[in-house]
Amino acid sequence: MSAEFFPEVITIIHTEYMSRALSLARNGLRMTSPNPMVGCVIVKDGRIIGSGWHKKYGNPHAEIEAINDAHSRGENVRGSAVYVTLEPCSHYGKTPPCANRLVAEGVSHVIIAMRDPNPKVNGKGIDILREGGVKVTELDGEIQQSAKFLNRGFIFVHKYGRPFVSLKAAMSLDGRMNLANGSSKWITGVEARTEAHRMRAENDAVLVGVGTVLSDDPELTVRFVDGVNPLRVVLDSRLRTPPSAKVIGHDGKCLIITSEGADRQQKKALEDSGATVAEVSSRGGHVDIESALKYLAGRGILTLMVEGGPEVLSAFLRERLADYVRLFISSAKIFGEGSGLDVGLGFGDVGEAFTLTGIKTRILGGDIITEGRLSCSPDL
Ligand SMILES: NC(=O)c1ccc[n+]([C@@H]2O[C@H](COP(=O)([O-])OP(=O)(O)OC[C@H]3O[C@@H](n4cnc5c(N)ncnc54)[C@H](OP(=O)(O)O)[C@@H]3O)[C@@H](O)[C@H]2O)c1
Repeated sequence: MSAEFFPEVITIIHTEYMSRALSLARNGLRMTSPNPMVGCVIVKDGRIIGSGWHKKYGNPHAEIEAINDAHSRGENVRGSAVYVTLEPCSHYGKTPPCANRLVAEGVSHVIIAMRDPNPKVNGKGIDILREGGVKVTELDGEIQQSAKFLNRGFIFVHKYGRPFVSLKAAMSLDGRMNLANGSSKWITGVEARTEAHRMRAENDAVLVGVGTVLSDDPELTVRFVDGVNPLRVVLDSRLRTPPSAKVIGHDGKCLIITSEGADRQQKKALEDSGATVAEVSSRGGHVDIESALKYLAGRGILTLMVEGGPEVLSAFLRERLADYVRLFISSAKIFGEGSGLDVGLGFGDVGEAFTLTGIKTRILGGDIITEGRLSCSPDL
């Protein structure tokens, strides 16, 4: 009897192929921004005849990679089912529209995990397919949520005009992010710090406040694991970053965001040392975080990890511009004093507190890492 008589069998088959397409999409991590990560699997007569993913911004999209893969194996995609993690595009960008190409290739069914949030596409790719006689199935539930979470930054930039923001903080068992004298080096062990470098490599940009630059002089690069360095961003309202700061580096990937009307001489000194300096509006005497995020989205930054310190992390929380939290908690050290996340949210009742969903907790070396999606974060 055909699987068509058993809807639950069809769901299992769709989930299986779409999961493969999603794991292919993940291969594009950090290479595709400001484009999304997309994977595609082409199935005919119960066999995968082609697959591919969007490898790099400007390169062919996943559907074209998969069609080319099928052709290179001598397969004909006419009459096939195409599993693609994002709605095929309908517009001429760096490449011609994939929806038209799928129609031209004569595929019979396209299964998608999520619609494209880009207003240039949203639903139009599906229309082109249906008008071309192709059956379209949109998946929902967990598989759709996985596809959305994978491209959370892409969705946020199109829906909210800002990157997806993760906060990362290391603290002692009693919640202190430094000692009273400002020292905060080595709160957690080498395993946790390696994990933090892996997280850096997963984000388009990392950000600290000038307070951290002045006290720790961090490099903010990926060193403990293989990976691409993110853009390093410093929020610095009065351009106090020294031109000799390590964060500036030598790769042209340091951006200092300051307030409008910044000191020309200091700005030039920072630019001469290799940093880019951008001016945005200020609020309450500091760089306006919302304007800074909008500026970063305009530069193609889809995902941002805020690494501190306490003042900047607290400001992101206070302004509800934080979507995910990762706390690295030393299970061995009690500081007794020092700064914590003294956010000043002003809750009057425990029921008002921010909560985390999808919580994951693990132990790495002697440290506890706990993470989850913040309740103040808007929908994907
Ligand atoms: N445990 C950890 O995970 C961790 C991580 C990083 C740092 N630290 C420690 O934290 C300490 C530094 O703390 P910190 O709070 O001074 O550092 P910070 O949060 O990195 O920097 C604070 C500075 O950022 C600037 N800033 C610009 N725009 C801002 C905004 N909208 N909101 C808030 N601040 C803004 C402010 O100075 P301007 O207005 O003058 O620009 C402010 O003084 C050090 O002891 C360091 O070792 C700990």
